[in-house]
Amino acid sequence: MTFDAMDFRRALGCFATGVTVITARSAGGTPVGITANSFSSVSLEPPLVLWCLDKGSERFARFDAADHFAVNVLGAHQQDLSSAFASYEHDAFPETPVETWETGAPILTDTLASLDCRIETRVDAGDHVVYIGRVLRLETRGDTPPLLYFRGRYGHIKGA
Ligand SMILES: Cc1cc2nc3c(=O)[nH]c(=O)nc-3n(C[C@H](O)[C@H](O)[C@H](O)COP(=O)(O)O)c2cc1C
Repeated sequence: MTFDAMDFRRALGCFATGVTVITARSAGGTPVGITANSFSSVSLEPPLVLWCLDKGSERFARFDAADHFAVNVLGAHQQDLSSAFASYEHDAFPETPVETWETGAPILTDTLASLDCRIETRVDAGDHVVYIGRVLRLETRGDTPPLLYFRGRYGHIKGA
């Protein structure tokens, strides 16, 4: 290999993304959430999306036990929410308004869009697992600009 882990991270960081909070709920009803920018669309017909979870995450067992997930797309004003759901110690759910739709995953109602998904396929991929989900219900809300992530930092669309 002609590159090391830092080079790889630096190259991946050049790809600007939005920011999501992925959520799920355990059989006992406990919610779990994580900030993720690995979200991607997969298929229009049927409607499929994916995200990738680090197997080393403290939250891995809880997400992996679920048969569903929800994708919540963050707005430019939600950097604090992104940090909260990326944190090791902080439980952001008590201060976050949520609804439940088809799957039981917490839907963050104050976000740009939410997609409630049933897991169709899990792909074991190196140190991550890729979850591909079928979208059962969705909602898009208003015209707020998105929160962006680029080169390890949050960003905003200029003028938006
Ligand atoms: C902008 C951003 C995007 C992230 N995207 C992902 C992701 O796609 N998948 C993932 O497993 N972790 C991702 N993380 C890391 C998690 O949000 C979280 O910080 C990490 O899993 C913390 O470790 P823990 O789960 O062991 O508490 C991202 C963090 C940030 C700030």
